[in-house]
Amino acid sequence: MDRSLVCLLAVTGVVVGGASLLAPLPVEAQSAPRRAALPPEQAAVADLDLSFQSIFSDVSKTKPRKMKVRNPDGTYREVALKPEFGVTRVESALKGHGLLGAHASDRPARERLARVRSGWHVMVSCLHNGGKALNPAAMSKDVLTWEEGLPRDWDTGIAKGSFAEITRLGRSSRKVNGWYVEARAVRMSKRDCLSCHTWGKLGDPVGIMVYAVRPKNSPSKASR
Ligand code: HEC
Repeated sequence: MDRSLVCLLAVTGVVVGGASLLAPLPVEAQSAPRRAALPPEQAAVADLDLSFQSIFSDVSKTKPRKMKVRNPDGTYREVALKPEFGVTRVESALKGHGLLGAHASDRPARERLARVRSGWHVMVSCLHNGGKALNPAAMSKDVLTWEEGLPRDWDTGIAKGSFAEITRLGRSSRKVNGWYVEARAVRMSKRDCLSCHTWGKLGDPVGIMVYAVRPKNSPSKASR
């Protein structure tokens, strides 16, 4: 489908308040059988990664747009949405800044995160070089969700220590203090990415997501 039409549908989906028909159904459908075969901690991380990757790949957020929003009295007003880049796109989706469901990728992502959080303690970080080519010696990190219980370098440790594996194979995992930690590459998945990230080519890594999960009903390290 034409991308501008998809964006239009996404926006009108909000206007009519309907459950969005175009949300991430295909992604869910594809990943469900594969997820079922995974050990539970890996399935939880796969769910988290689906959410964050879908937000990163939603380039509609990088453009200024206007959206119609329904007032309580039934009339509509037009709201300008600011462009959002990099991790800001993810943060605003998680916090529900602005308008609920303003982007096709946000609502399912938030719902999936809430579902995982109901059974797991969850920590999520993004490591990157501000949209430039990844350089493990100088990566900054944005912590997206945080809980007690892991050493300070839980995310930088794996991202730097397994950098080659993550950027080549797409992922790396380890166990730390009873948590399952998995790092995943964020790649330039669309030609659109290259219009701003002009240094690279399709498929190049531009960020590393690091996820840590621990089942809510498991004893913490202290009581083991
Ligand atoms: C309209 C321009 C634009 C497009 C298109 C774009 N980006 Fe970016 N991206 C940026 C800018 C600007 C930054 C730096 C943001 C910052 O550091 O505040 C950035 C940063 C990032 C980062 C690092 C995190 C961060 O906050 O610095 C990742 C990861 C990223 N982009 C992924 C992508 C992917 C994947 C695509 C394509 C699916 C994409 N971007 C498309 C402009 C863009």
